[in-house]
Amino acid sequence: MYVVELDRPWIDSPFLFQGFLLENADDIIAVQDICKWVYVDVVEEEWVEADVNKPTGVRHTQKRYVDKNQMATQLTAANRTYQSTKKQVKHLLASAQLGQALNMADAKVAVKDCVDRVVANPNAILWLTRLKHQDEYTAEHSVNVCLLSIALGQRMGLAAYELENIGISGLMHDIGKMKVPPEILNKPDRLDPEEFAEMARHTVYAKQLLMGRSDIYPGAVDVAYSHHERLDGKGYPRGIDSSKISLFTRIVTIADAYDAMTSDRCYKVGMSSMEALQIINRNIGTQFDKEVARQFIGMIGMYPPGYLLEMSNGEVGIILSADKGYQLKPRVMMVLDRDKNPQPEAIINLAMNPTDGAGQPYKTKGVYRSGHFGVDVGEYTKKGLRIQGFDEME
Ligand SMILES: [Fe+2]
Repeated sequence: MYVVELDRPWIDSPFLFQGFLLENADDIIAVQDICKWVYVDVVEEEWVEADVNKPTGVRHTQKRYVDKNQMATQLTAANRTYQSTKKQVKHLLASAQLGQALNMADAKVAVKDCVDRVVANPNAILWLTRLKHQDEYTAEHSVNVCLLSIALGQRMGLAAYELENIGISGLMHDIGKMKVPPEILNKPDRLDPEEFAEMARHTVYAKQLLMGRSDIYPGAVDVAYSHHERLDGKGYPRGIDSSKISLFTRIVTIADAYDAMTSDRCYKVGMSSMEALQIINRNIGTQFDKEVARQFIGMIGMYPPGYLLEMSNGEVGIILSADKGYQLKPRVMMVLDRDKNPQPEAIINLAMNPTDGAGQPYKTKGVYRSGHFGVDVGEYTKKGLRIQGFDEME
């Protein structure tokens, strides 16, 4: 079955993308861990019933089944690609650790396959990036950064050959960690300054491992060397500023930060997708590139329509939609005042920088599922509220 909606915000679930296929019993168990119920299996086609007795007609949604075989094939193929890429990166990491020659040929084939899969169905393959195993962190992190970078690159309009280059760059970005002593790399506690300096050197080790090789995209060396640099010049190892940080490095840096923040490690529980996106958003301009971050947040989804948005002044509204290019500034129907009492419903468009009753600009505070604050979004849709991408709730 194809899952189209959870009983909670997607961003509070471990499922990266909005919509995915349940293929086997394990998938169902994974969903059962998180949700009591889900909506499945519809492709929506809206039509309006001509009803002369009603001024605007009644909107209905016609349901049509998706081609399950095609979806199933795509997820199986995506999983095969994920596993074979993981196998290749494990070989490469082991070779780097042992000081053996890196065999890039098979990794390149795997990355080409990743590009094909992301282009065919980004949801299917990116969903796999959420199924993490703590004990395989470095290998899975490398594959995840590869896939997230390809998906983001595709969203930003990069050509196919560029997607392969950014995929290799993502896959190899942390290879230098294999030269960091394991007792530092796997230390469960906070690193002391000396240990941190050694850990930071993984960028330099990566450059040494990859530089001068004719069989690897030269930009990958720059990405591995520079992916901990910051636009404000406060990164490492060189402290270069934005003028010297390439687009590929900016893309891989965000994919790397997001996957690291949302991963469980032996020393910390991974944060939620929304928290990670908020941190990325807060560090736009200093650490992260504005356009790349906005595209990334838009890809993952920060303000899903149909959920409740609490503003910093305490008012609450229902997220209706976000215009293209304004994923961080959705349209919201305000329903509760600052004391959480019902207020006359009014639609505001955060892209227009509206102000509240006190003349202060609205700022967002948190996203909640329907039912929170006593607001049932279904009640509003029953009354005719249209929410982007939503079925009419009968
Ligand atoms: Fe790194």
